[in-house]
Amino acid sequence: MEKKQKQGETQTWGFAQAEENEPIKVIIDDKREFYTKEEVLNTIIQGDALRVLKKLPESIFDMVFMDPPYFLQLPKKELRRWTVGTVVEGVDEDWDKFSSFEEYDRFIYSLLSEVRRVMKPNATIWIIGTYHSIFRIGRIVQDLGFWILNDVIWVKTNPMPNWLGVRFTNATETLIWAVREKNAKKYVFNRDFAKEFGIGKVGANVWVLPLCGGRERIRDEEGKKVHSTQKPVELLKRIILTSTNEGSLILDPVAGIGTTGYVARALNRDFVMIEINPKYVEWIKKRFEIPLKIDEKS
Ligand SMILES: C[S@@+](CC[C@H](N)C(=O)[O-])C[C@H]1O[C@@H](n2cnc3c(N)ncnc32)[C@H](O)[C@@H]1O
Repeated sequence: MEKKQKQGETQTWGFAQAEENEPIKVIIDDKREFYTKEEVLNTIIQGDALRVLKKLPESIFDMVFMDPPYFLQLPKKELRRWTVGTVVEGVDEDWDKFSSFEEYDRFIYSLLSEVRRVMKPNATIWIIGTYHSIFRIGRIVQDLGFWILNDVIWVKTNPMPNWLGVRFTNATETLIWAVREKNAKKYVFNRDFAKEFGIGKVGANVWVLPLCGGRERIRDEEGKKVHSTQKPVELLKRIILTSTNEGSLILDPVAGIGTTGYVARALNRDFVMIEINPKYVEWIKKRFEIPLKIDEKS
């Protein structure tokens, strides 16, 4: 297992030998009306989360990680770096496009309502976003009755600069961490890990770590990023270790390239992922061919 250390942050994971691998099971969602918990355990379900979630039994998940579309509303023209003129690779996929804030809010509201139904009463949810949408999402989270426990600020050590030089470089993403029921006392919070990951000695809600790059970043045969918003393994490691125990069941309803399940498996947690785009599901299958090994302690 290789160890990586960068800019003062500790990264305690690496890729293992392919022989240690167990392939991921894929379910293509169809006209079925119901899935049992056993059927969906440790699978990626290819389908629309709004439909698939309705078919899952209620109150089965211990934790949810959700990285929904950002609704970045990028201009139609190409963005070019003002000094060198090269094209900026932003998030320009169809899955990030909505016709209005109202449509976006409706999507998030429906998704979170369905997600809440399948969470145990003491389960927690993490939702990540940027300033483009996280405030809208925060309001919906509260309207639906979740109880916000923290916002955790991810400070990126290698953010994409503001190429036009017209505002601050946006170097953070916000994670909302909330419990399903306000009065649920016994949600999982592993304080020792929180202290280890947060800045300072008190486990403050600020995590400093880079965007994923290098060998971690999944690229196609032409070297292009397969998924524009692939999240770092280290981020999911922190989330999973602070808010679940071994054997917990984790849901990611908008899985992208499957980082949540990939890290969950390495940490001996069970998972269910849902992703609408068949191309990403194919890449998730390939990704799981090279297993991950994680040391919990730095
Ligand atoms: C921000 S990305 C998630 C990236 C992921 N966290 C990772 O590390 O790869 C959001 C994903 O949601 C998927 N998505 C959007 N709408 C969906 C829906 N209705 N059901 C399932 N997946 C959806 C998109 O295809 C996209 O891959």
